[in-house]
Amino acid sequence: MIELFHVSMRYAGADRPALDDVTLEIRKGEFCLLAGPSGAGKTSLLRLLFCAEAATGGQVFVGGRNLARLKPARIPEVRRNIGVVFQDFKLLPGRSVLDNVALAIEVQGRRREEVRERAVGVLKQVGLGHKLHQHAERLSGGEQQRVAIARALVVEPALLLCDEPTGNLDAERAQGILELLVTAHVRGTTVVVATHDPALLGGNRRVVRLEDGRVVADVPAYSPMSAALLDAARKVA
Ligand SMILES: Nc1ncnc2c1ncn2[C@@H]1O[C@H](COP(=O)(O)OP(=O)(O)O)[C@@H](O)[C@H]1O
Ligand SMILES: [Mg+2]
Repeated sequence: MIELFHVSMRYAGADRPALDDVTLEIRKGEFCLLAGPSGAGKTSLLRLLFCAEAATGGQVFVGGRNLARLKPARIPEVRRNIGVVFQDFKLLPGRSVLDNVALAIEVQGRRREEVRERAVGVLKQVGLGHKLHQHAERLSGGEQQRVAIARALVVEPALLLCDEPTGNLDAERAQGILELLVTAHVRGTTVVVATHDPALLGGNRRVVRLEDGRVVADVPAYSPMSAALLDAARKVA
């Protein structure tokens, strides 16, 4: 699903790269956490996968496409299969919570009732069933974040990219969001989550740890060693 070969990325004017010689494969159907301290390059990596930034070196493949060779006109095609929960999530102001989520699938040409039904279903799952008709900008930060998550999930994307999806949420809500991500994963979505939330990092899941733009640890899920390795990785943190 995702392959990076010796990828580097440097922002214009930056004195050091945000990503430095990153080689990484994330297979279809995997649930992969990106960990690491602030400034490690987690957000940059997700933005690269969403074609919001371009690599300055190496190669990035998403869904078999070489992003370096992708014509700008084809970017929407790649993005159509990707759900994103980024930190600068932009909800449409002046539109209801329900509209914000329904619009994400209306473009798929589905029947109006079906669109509504699915949007309501996902909003109930994120705990916003009682706020369907409220304007998006009247919600708290945490609630807006849950709308953004619902909007990403409702399209049932092949790939889901989440940047600190529990950043504004309390522990209980964070756990609820994790469960939603796991549900999407179980249904077949490949999930990549950048986080430094210990609640998310605690499960038996693959953790790729970045530091200064480099991969410094890659701990697979379901290996008998992984609990011990995770502990060790946390101590290093
Ligand atoms: N838009 C930008 N312009 C210049 N430098 C940036 C920009 N965004 C991030 N950086 C730098 O790139 C590095 C990686 O940042 P980022 O990917 O946001 O890390 P993380 O998400 O792990 O906190 C940091 O040194 C950060 O200061
Ligand atoms: Mg970040």
